Amino acid sequence: VSLKPYNTFGIDAKASLLAEFSSTQELQDILQHPAVKPLPKLILGGGSNVLFTQDVEAAVLLNRIKGITQEDQPDGEHVLVKSGSGETWHDLVLYSIEHHLGGIENLSLIPGTVGAAPLQNIGAYGVELKDTFYSLEAVEMETGNLITFTKDQCNFGYRESIFKKDAKGKYIVTSVTLQLTRKPTFNTSYGAITQTLEEMQVKELSLKAISDAVIHIRKSKLPDPAKIGNAGSFFKNPEIPIAQFELLKEQYPNMPGYPVSEFTVKVPAGWMIEQCGWKGKVLGQHGVHKDQALVLVNYGGATGNEVKELAYEIIHSVQEKFGITLTPEVNII
Ligand code: EPU
Repeated sequence: VSLKPYNTFGIDAKASLLAEFSSTQELQDILQHPAVKPLPKLILGGGSNVLFTQDVEAAVLLNRIKGITQEDQPDGEHVLVKSGSGETWHDLVLYSIEHHLGGIENLSLIPGTVGAAPLQNIGAYGVELKDTFYSLEAVEMETGNLITFTKDQCNFGYRESIFKKDAKGKYIVTSVTLQLTRKPTFNTSYGAITQTLEEMQVKELSLKAISDAVIHIRKSKLPDPAKIGNAGSFFKNPEIPIAQFELLKEQYPNMPGYPVSEFTVKVPAGWMIEQCGWKGKVLGQHGVHKDQALVLVNYGGATGNEVKELAYEIIHSVQEKFGITLTPEVNII
């Protein structure tokens, strides 16, 4: 079975077996199926954070668990919103805006499903999933048991969670519960948002206005995976010691950096990749996006290995020029 329709990079890799599940029970049954049981498993939601570099000797399970429900908290302000993990993330954002619930409007238009969001603690424009995350339910693959993970148990970090570390490949997320609020504080800390709201001549802030601004910014910088194959940011933004940043600043006075603690600064990988001359580079069927150097693209027909090689060349040149090693944010399989 070709996985091309199931990954936003549009890579034509093949899987041994493909099955869909639309409920927890269906998933538990599939895991017990004699054809599936002996195989390694790979779960795909929107397939928006993977790069296939070879055929997959595994049962690929497509998550289609739907449904969104809400439950008021006793304080009258907070609302627990529980979503099936197979819902499209942006549909959950639209649901929250429609129901006047604040907390995830800055995360508008991020590709992928709700179930994939906690794995890498999705984040954009000053907000991360962990800010509103409450709990999730997941099926333990080995036992088939349904287990609840609290926020603390998920061990969230920048594009990190326990599901990329100790719990990697052991669980399948079936639902995610967020704690949203009826009394939102709008987060416009990210410069581009304020600027876009002005351009859009927004007079009064609202969840919808922020969401619209974010959608506008994303559309202007990030390629639409439906048109050009990509998986968003290919690399993480590296964190470096302040001393190292200050030395680099002497050599590159325009180098941007955001303090994350007393000791470290986060530097935008996109800026460094652009400085190395990669932005907009086209190599055959693949390349580096022209408006955001952090995004690698497949114009159609590129292989996963070609994209991976490009990624390694980029890592190498950033290493040479800045002495910083980039790490991929996308799962390379
Ligand atoms: N920059 C450049 N050249 C580029 C790209 C960026 O000079 O080609 C500079 C910008 O001028 C700016 C800085 O780098 O000074 C930051 O750029 P931007 O605001 O576009 O954000 P980013 O750091 O490149 C991160 C996330 C994005 C998220 C945006 C907005 C990571 C790995 N990426 O990108 O997330 O949308 O911030 O919050 O943290 C994703 O994870 O797939 C993703 C798209």
